[in-house]
Amino acid sequence: MQSPAPDIRSPNDRNLALELVRVTEAAALAASRWSGRGQKNEADGAAVEAMRTAFDTVAIDGTVVIGEGEMDEAPMLYIGEKVGSGGPEMDIAVDPLEGTILTAKNMPNALTVVALAERGNFLHAPDIYMDKLAVGPGLPEGVVGLDSSIAVNLRNLAKAKRCDISDLTLCTLDRDRHEELIALTREAGARVMLISDGDVAGVIAACMPGSGVDIFAGSGGAPEGVLAAAAMRCTGGQMQARLLFDDEAQVQRAQEMQEGDPRRLLSLEDIARGDVLFSATGVTTGALLRGILRTGIHAVTHSIVMRSKSGTVRFIEGHHNFARKTWSTS
Ligand code: FBP
Repeated sequence: MQSPAPDIRSPNDRNLALELVRVTEAAALAASRWSGRGQKNEADGAAVEAMRTAFDTVAIDGTVVIGEGEMDEAPMLYIGEKVGSGGPEMDIAVDPLEGTILTAKNMPNALTVVALAERGNFLHAPDIYMDKLAVGPGLPEGVVGLDSSIAVNLRNLAKAKRCDISDLTLCTLDRDRHEELIALTREAGARVMLISDGDVAGVIAACMPGSGVDIFAGSGGAPEGVLAAAAMRCTGGQMQARLLFDDEAQVQRAQEMQEGDPRRLLSLEDIARGDVLFSATGVTTGALLRGILRTGIHAVTHSIVMRSKSGTVRFIEGHHNFARKTWSTS
């Protein structure tokens, strides 16, 4: 009797998760050629091109919903672009290089990131700011909220974690706009971990035991927020968010892209629903992943791949031998 065919319609298909790792690996290998060279656009361009090419071999009918920008401003991986070699219909969220400046300066925490969900399951968000609040798994639902003060959130979090507020660390982007958040956090007694860029890794850190981060708060890119939410769906963490608008044109664009009041409080499920796959590969070494290590014709990649259905979090080390490849990642 023939064994049943694998269900490739499900984004939780295990093979698809490994296909995604190849996509983030290819982007990271390409971007790392530019690390420390002070040219962030070139690093980003290399990652975009490699990621776009790698998608050609993934057996999906994918549509980019979070990408490099609108069709008229990005040559590849633009919002609405079709990718994949054919298969089940999927929505794709990408950040081919999360931390362009980090890469240009060879600083920690630059990643390449991809998330996948069945059609219609990611929030369609323009490239604006998003206010984000995230904590890790195993805490009572609603232990923190975006509409509560940071002092109240820290108090409730400390109670749930059975520790003092002084044991807690809040991670946020080092930006002037976070001056008040930082001051109020310290005033409440908690520590602050400031990151110069890369809030996808910052949000994920709140879920990772041993990262030293208990809570992520503050505003960063909305596309990065969708990718972070996909990761949170896989790790079981909690997240709330709200899009932040500078003008009416941005509100209108958001209204064209999604249903409902674009200023509403967004739950994790509002941002990433259903079964989700997430993959990221380190470009430069950081708290979550090691960066690309090259020795002659060999390179080592370090990736994280997660599936929301199983809750499996895998760290994958790839050893690449370019002498045996017919393609180039440079
Ligand atoms: P890029 O890789 O596109 O430069 O984004 C880096 C980043 O730090 C994101 O992680 C974050 O969401 C966003 O920029 C914050 O934007 P800003 O630098 O304007 O505060």
